[in-house]
Amino acid sequence: MSKAIDIGRLEKSRIELQSQLDEVKTSQDRNRLGQFATPTALASDILAYARGLLPSRGQVRFFDPAIGTGSFYSALLREFPRGRIKEAKGFEIDPHYRKPALELWKKTNLHIDIADFTEQQFEPRFNLLICNPPYVRHHHMTTEQKTRLQQLSMESSGARFSGLAGLYCHFVGLSHQWLAPDAISGWLIPSEFMDVNYGQALKKYLLDKVTLLHIHRFDPNDVQFADAL
Ligand SMILES: C[S@@+](CC[C@H](N)C(=O)[O-])C[C@H]1O[C@@H](n2cnc3c(N)ncnc32)[C@H](O)[C@@H]1O
Repeated sequence: MSKAIDIGRLEKSRIELQSQLDEVKTSQDRNRLGQFATPTALASDILAYARGLLPSRGQVRFFDPAIGTGSFYSALLREFPRGRIKEAKGFEIDPHYRKPALELWKKTNLHIDIADFTEQQFEPRFNLLICNPPYVRHHHMTTEQKTRLQQLSMESSGARFSGLAGLYCHFVGLSHQWLAPDAISGWLIPSEFMDVNYGQALKKYLLDKVTLLHIHRFDPNDVQFADAL
């Protein structure tokens, strides 16, 4: 990336774009694809925290498998020197978000594929994965979808998710294969997995298959996604 960009202005445009795009969707549609964007300050906090976990001068290959308009990519640009960002890639299933996002980020090195992340061949080279995966409950997934995802998550990460696991569990499972050795992987997910039976497999994955560095559990009274209530 060589061209100068004004990241403050870009983030302002992204926020405006996000609310315009959200506004024309029904809440049922947004629920179906788990479309609730991460607020700017929260995205910045997460990327700043990740920066402290990565080697201080190393290059970053960033990946967000559910990128939306790119709130985490935007935070990456705010929190990391541009010279360190070797590559950035994301998937977005919905052209409604992806097309304007492409236009917004066209002067940067972000590559967005319009595709279902769960159907992709993995590319195990990313050392920074940050994701707010779609929160789609299992009731909204077909039996075929669940069986396919259970199989793929198992092959990718060894996690045996039950049929009650939401799509976000499979995003964690499938992402495992996209990580380079020593990658940092950060997930913004509902804390319910810590308390319910279907969460056992995710807890086991976090304890046995990766080095669990940090869990931040938000106060349930401090709502992070006011539009997802
Ligand atoms: C919770 S939003 C997060 C968006 C953005 N990363 C953020 O944090 O603001 C999840 C995004 O994943 C997209 N999505 C849902 N299912 C997907 C899939 N199977 N593959 C790729 N993207 C998907 C949704 O359209 C939505 O934009």
